[in-house]
Amino acid sequence: METIAPVIELYPGDDGDLLELLQMSMGIESMEGVKHLLAVERTRGTRYYVARVAGQIVGLIGVWFDPTGRVTELEPPQIIDMAVLPAYRRQGVARALMARAVAEVRTTGCPTLWLYTSGDEIGVLTFYYKLGYRLAAVVPDWFGPGSRKAILRLDLS
Ligand SMILES: CC(C)(COP(=O)(O)OP(=O)(O)OC[C@H]1O[C@@H](n2cnc3c(N)ncnc32)[C@H](O)[C@@H]1OP(=O)(O)O)[C@@H](O)C(=O)NCCC(=O)NCCS
Repeated sequence: METIAPVIELYPGDDGDLLELLQMSMGIESMEGVKHLLAVERTRGTRYYVARVAGQIVGLIGVWFDPTGRVTELEPPQIIDMAVLPAYRRQGVARALMARAVAEVRTTGCPTLWLYTSGDEIGVLTFYYKLGYRLAAVVPDWFGPGSRKAILRLDLS
């Protein structure tokens, strides 16, 4: 069987484009909560990009970087949200979104990209590992008792 890669369009997302996917990425039920966190991210200068396939928004990424280019500590994370609709996974959508974010961060001369995610989801960790991220630290009980937060680092130099 022949597999055809989808045409993935990337563009800056407005709030209406983002909410449903943000809810998935943030893992919170309350849409008011999602809107609040999005407002916080917008205020600190986070930029969001969405991926569109055949006219439908199927994925998103949020990227933030210190305009001074001097942040080397673990917080705040620079990739803040990443999600792809289940039906569109394993087709390179997240890889394309991450490439867009990395290209933007590279223009700042920032040598390292940080993010954190659940340390308990092997598929997500494999995704980041495939893209070159490496484990920097694990924080126990971050998302609740028994959970693990994985802090990941991508060397851009
Ligand atoms: C993690 C996530 C963003 C990946 O999106 P995606 O569009 O499916 O990823 P891609 O197709 O670009 O994957 C690129 C490579 O990463 C690896 N990969 C991606 N998902 C994987 C999985 N579930 N298991 C193992 N490897 C995986 C593969 O090597 C893949 O390349 P391949 O399909 O050619 O083998 C998506 O599964 C998702 O939205 N999950 C739920 C939300 C979430 O947990 N977000 C992270 C919070 S920070």
